[in-house]
Amino acid sequence: MKSPIPDYLKRVLEAARPDDSGAPAGYIDVLARADTSRLGVAIAMVDGNVYSAGDDEVEFSIQSISKAFVYGLAIEDAGLERVLEKIGVEPSGDAFNELSLHEGTNRPMNPMINAGAITAHSLVVGPNATAEERTERILKVMSKLANRELKVCEEVYEAEMKDWDRNMGLAYMLKAAGIVQCDPGEAVKGYIRQCSINVTVRDLALMAATLSNGGYHPITSERIFPRKSVRQVLSVMTTCGMYDAAGDWVSNVGIPAKSGVAGGILGALPGQVGLAAFSPKLDDKGNSVRGINICEQLSHDMGLHMM
Ligand code: DON
Repeated sequence: MKSPIPDYLKRVLEAARPDDSGAPAGYIDVLARADTSRLGVAIAMVDGNVYSAGDDEVEFSIQSISKAFVYGLAIEDAGLERVLEKIGVEPSGDAFNELSLHEGTNRPMNPMINAGAITAHSLVVGPNATAEERTERILKVMSKLANRELKVCEEVYEAEMKDWDRNMGLAYMLKAAGIVQCDPGEAVKGYIRQCSINVTVRDLALMAATLSNGGYHPITSERIFPRKSVRQVLSVMTTCGMYDAAGDWVSNVGIPAKSGVAGGILGALPGQVGLAAFSPKLDDKGNSVRGINICEQLSHDMGLHMM
């Protein structure tokens, strides 16, 4: 029997389309020139079925959504105890690229702001690894999660590297504070490469579904993350994944989530579903306007709120 879900997703998409507010991220020229009419949605069930509508095959850079998975990898490679020594788990209330460290511990507040994400990146593989080695490890795991070979978008990478001063400032500050041990340039290069990995909404929904499925891939059944790491990643996504909008998001949508400046949003509801939406125009908090509308609608219609 034909599933009614794709038609339902088309209706949700069309209901979100008229809201043309917001603007694409302006600080990376490739993103500023994005086609703002793009709109896509996908949901992946923990049984491996993936449904999608709209621009579901259009690739965009994963950006900050990568931070959730790289945090999981840092836990794998360095151990949770060491990761917690270096990166906190509290919302920062600051912009994602704020030059701030927690007074007293010198730790970045959480792994979803750039300071914490650069630190998490530096913990992947090991302190002496190169940007290439870390990117290779990250690409390999993200490709397993998406169940296809993902690649870095060199155009986005080059554009972000031209403007790397703020992230370099963060990396030097982290090195001086004894939080990052590797060469700051290698950490930032690798971090920018991880943000430049291209994905579609179908990829993101499937990647989320592995988190929803306790770390087991819904299609290949491979265990990609241990349950303990998944719990840690989803907890931090809940409190810090949507930046300053985390409170609104948790009350209205109620799903652990992460957004990126290219306009992607990923949500993972434990035991149930992974979802993703994409549309490039962002609100003043840096989250996709139509993406949020779509996720609110899905959460309402499908009863996804975790409370
Ligand atoms: O560090 C940066 O500027 C980006 N590559 C990551 C940005 C991102 O997606 C942040 N927030 N939504």
